[in-house]
Amino acid sequence: MGRVQDKVVVVTGGAAGIGHAIAQGMAQEGAQVVLGDIDDAAGEAVASAIGGTFRHCDVSSFDDVSALIEATVQKHGRIDVLVNNAAVPIGGMPVHDMTLEQWDKLIATNLSSVFYGVKAALPHMIAAGKGAIVNMASAQGHVGLDGWTAYSGAKGAIMSMTRQMAVEFGPKGIRVNSISPGTIDTPMNQQVVAELGTHLTDTWVKMHPIGRIGKPQEVAEAAIYLASDAAGFTTGVDLKVDGGLSGAPRFVPEFFMPRES
Ligand SMILES: NC(=O)c1ccc[n+]([C@@H]2O[C@H](COP(=O)([O-])OP(=O)(O)OC[C@H]3O[C@@H](n4cnc5c(N)ncnc54)[C@H](O)[C@@H]3O)[C@@H](O)[C@H]2O)c1
Repeated sequence: MGRVQDKVVVVTGGAAGIGHAIAQGMAQEGAQVVLGDIDDAAGEAVASAIGGTFRHCDVSSFDDVSALIEATVQKHGRIDVLVNNAAVPIGGMPVHDMTLEQWDKLIATNLSSVFYGVKAALPHMIAAGKGAIVNMASAQGHVGLDGWTAYSGAKGAIMSMTRQMAVEFGPKGIRVNSISPGTIDTPMNQQVVAELGTHLTDTWVKMHPIGRIGKPQEVAEAAIYLASDAAGFTTGVDLKVDGGLSGAPRFVPEFFMPRES
């Protein structure tokens, strides 16, 4: 018996990184997984490897997200768990240098996507009288980091929305929690290193009291727990999976964006 046995789980951004690990981990724990992503080739490959279903979904489009949820309910009869995971790393510049296009893309992909997901999934969960929503926040919603104001703003909003929804939908049997990962070894961070410099790799290790960056599977463990009935009395929390980063005085933000002297 798996920890999420027979639950119908939707994971956005499930083709790579943390979302891939979550999709894989949920499937290993007995879930029927439906993953959505803009990377069709990788998404199909993950779905086929874990015995799940892939559907193209750009989370910055309500129509795509709604279609992902509706296709899931059509195929499986219900949605038990929604993991709002997909996001893009737009940052590394002072907030006043960010273009309006970058801001709009970030907010649409990283924040509106969460609204779209819950807007589409909640009616089904309310009708069923149960459900669990796991939103991917970030340690950057807890600590300051030069150059990442907009990204941090979206993640902070996700945590706040999570708390609000937990209060609002608890009486309907729906739990809503978020996860705040520290630096995790994923394609997203490989992209950040490629754009901002390899010095980041050492900096990231130093930032985490535990002495290393995290693995996607370590975040997946938190998602599996929050989705499972073992977390039946846990709602409205933000679970930090950050190697101690958010409590660390060794934080070195200047490495992320050179400061003018
Ligand atoms: N990697 C980290 O260090 C870290 C730390 C804190 C929080 N997070 C959060 O964890 C989540 C996953 O991050 P990751 O590092 O695995 O990212 P990643 O870039 O490695 O993978 C993200 C996946 O989302 C997909 N994606 C991108 N834009 C999309 C869109 N518009 N619609 C649908 N899918 C889309 C990508 O194709 C990819 O498969 C994000 O919410 C991120 O903000 C990551």
